[in-house]
Amino acid sequence: MNFCWKIILALLIFSSCSKDPKSNNAVVVTRHHLATDIGAEILKNGGNAIDSAVAVAFALAVVNPSAGNLGGGGFMLYYDADDEKTFALDYRERAPQNATEKMFLNKEGDVIEGLSLNSYLASGVPGTVKGMFKAHNLFGSIPIENLIAPAIKIAKDGFTLSNFQATNFNKYKKKFLNGSDSESIFIKEGGFKEGDIFIQADLAKSLELIQSRGQKVFYEGKLADKIVEDFSQNGGLISSEDLLNYKVYLKDPICGIYKEYDVCSMPLPSSGGIAIIQMLNIIENFDLKNYSHNSLEYIELLIKIMSFAYADRSKYLGDQEFFDAPVENLISKKYAEKISKKIKSSEELKVEPGIYFYEGDQTTHFSIIDYEGNVVSNTYTLNTAYGSGIVAKGTGILMNNEMDDFSIKPGTPNVYGLIGSEANKIESKKSPLSSMSPTIVFKDSKPFLITGSQGGSMIINTVFQEILNTIEFNMELSESNEKSRIHYQWKPSVLFHEGLNKSLIDELSKNMKLMERKIGETQSISLENGKYQGWSDYRRPDGKKIELH
Ligand code: GLY
Repeated sequence: MNFCWKIILALLIFSSCSKDPKSNNAVVVTRHHLATDIGAEILKNGGNAIDSAVAVAFALAVVNPSAGNLGGGGFMLYYDADDEKTFALDYRERAPQNATEKMFLNKEGDVIEGLSLNSYLASGVPGTVKGMFKAHNLFGSIPIENLIAPAIKIAKDGFTLSNFQATNFNKYKKKFLNGSDSESIFIKEGGFKEGDIFIQADLAKSLELIQSRGQKVFYEGKLADKIVEDFSQNGGLISSEDLLNYKVYLKDPICGIYKEYDVCSMPLPSSGGIAIIQMLNIIENFDLKNYSHNSLEYIELLIKIMSFAYADRSKYLGDQEFFDAPVENLISKKYAEKISKKIKSSEELKVEPGIYFYEGDQTTHFSIIDYEGNVVSNTYTLNTAYGSGIVAKGTGILMNNEMDDFSIKPGTPNVYGLIGSEANKIESKKSPLSSMSPTIVFKDSKPFLITGSQGGSMIINTVFQEILNTIEFNMELSESNEKSRIHYQWKPSVLFHEGLNKSLIDELSKNMKLMERKIGETQSISLENGKYQGWSDYRRPDGKKIELH
């Protein structure tokens, strides 16, 4: 960040807080260097982890429009160091009131291709703006106007596109050709190039409105009116009532014990926390000293564990307000022992040949720890990259396509190949089931690993492997990051991997189809030699960590 930026930010933040740092150092890790700079500057100027997170979330909506958002939703895990308590903030999208179970099916009962992904019907009621205000209201310390200001400045003045970002806009050109404002914002004649300055004037105005009038303007004011007008003119369902009635929920996280660690993650409507704790409980029944990392035996064990957890996800999980999911059983040690016995006796789940799997750039995670030891682990999304690709008229705000995370026809796979059941069918005001897994692992009651990932259904397995790499194989984050990840989700019966060696591929191919692809993208912080260190996944060229001492 250049000198001029630093001065501007320091002035914008203007808090008099100059707390003496306690014993901790502070770290910010996000997928975009400008968002990381902003988050770190907030901490340096006395803001806490929540202040930094709110500023990062608004900034990512500008500099990382494929997943950073105002028109989507997500989950935040917050650990309050004073109270030694962890909170889970659910600001996931909800189905509009008029949503119906069969809204994406034709008369014959078949799925209408693309409708749940690229249309005005694809959007759930967005939660990010209310979510950030709620987090700030509960735990923030710097006036929120000052936390939105850096995002406004970048939207107004523009930022320099990296080669990665310019290419990414061009790659999704077809998605933006939808008759909405996205055509004029995200498509450039001749294509975008590295070094272009990308300005978002409408988005800057929307952010200014939010800055001056608060979250209300998005849910019952001028921005709400614009969104509703555009949606009603184009066959969408989101109504004034939907926006007005949108609620953020503060929940208890879902926590489990793995050896000497406490692991907390996101409860329903995320399947992530349940599946991660279930998998850790199962693997606890195997002596990992006998397995070397990414050996054939280790990978085969992971595949079996993953298939049981993903099968349960498909069968039992959905928004808890609408379906009584057997959560206690799924995360119990007893249930894990039962599954372990099945694995040991080589009992396998029935699997079916695969359909293809979406290759996306969706969702983004960031991790923050402040000088006081407060932690934010936040994952938020528009669902697939750039959501529905539709920008609500006159707002500059990209809208999500989160409705595709419902099982739009129970038994039929969604964009990630995930099969859902009745538990996750579409219902009015319900949240679609998510895989987003913002996670905090504690050792001796102190945050030890703060992590999360992008990657749709791959998120859960990515976080699972990050935890195992650091805890079981004593890897530093950088080493863990270099290791090939695998992903197996029961259906389709395909092992996704990031480049295993030939003998492993030959051996594993005897039993299943293998496909090589990128898996997940973590933005993690861990405690190493008494200091917190960050790591931004090398799979994402624009990411950055800042460690403050
Ligand atoms: N839309 C991706 C997820 O919520 O898991």
